[in-house]
Amino acid sequence: MGGGRGCASGAAALRPAFSARRSARLSCERLMSLMFHTAIAGLTCSAFLILLSSSSVSQELGRQGSDAASGELIFNNACRTCHTTREGDNRLGPHLHKIIGRKAGSLPNYGYSSAMKGADFVWDKEKLARFIANPDEMVPGNSMKPYGGLSSADNRAKVIAFLQSLTSGQ
Ligand code: HEC
Repeated sequence: MGGGRGCASGAAALRPAFSARRSARLSCERLMSLMFHTAIAGLTCSAFLILLSSSSVSQELGRQGSDAASGELIFNNACRTCHTTREGDNRLGPHLHKIIGRKAGSLPNYGYSSAMKGADFVWDKEKLARFIANPDEMVPGNSMKPYGGLSSADNRAKVIAFLQSLTSGQ
């Protein structure tokens, strides 16, 4: 960058003899402006590349993360009156920590209905989706009441993404 300063002081020294050395001063300015524009272009370009690469890397993770995040809001509205996601913290309903992969009706310290206790399956994403769409169709005679249901399949998927994020720790 010493060249830049050289040009500036050179231009000041040239001022008295402006007309005589005009062409020299012009080419000096041209050089400086060229350097300036190259630097700006370089900066803009690398900023753009950083943006590009970071967004493409995090795109997939970002989508899963945002489903889980909006799923948490839906969970708070539709489930949290009766359920927590903290291990061992049973309320009106059993806690849902690591519910995916857990056998239905299997917590030892929660008083399930006999229907849920006798349900012979392990919770996976598909079973959860069916249950929260219509608990009685999935486990007839269960005591998850009063439950208004989640009519939107999109919202059911988001709640499940949220519950899954607690299961897998992601
Ligand atoms: C009005 C309270 C209430 C609401 C609201 C509610 N639940 Fe429940 N839930 C219960 C009760 C009570 C049980 C136990 C049912 C039984 O023993 O038959 C239960 C059981 C469950 C089970 C079975 C757990 C196990 O250990 O096998 C799952 C899964 C579940 N609920 C998910 C949800 C989800 C997800 C939501 C929100 C979309 C929700 N519940 C909303 C009260 C509720």
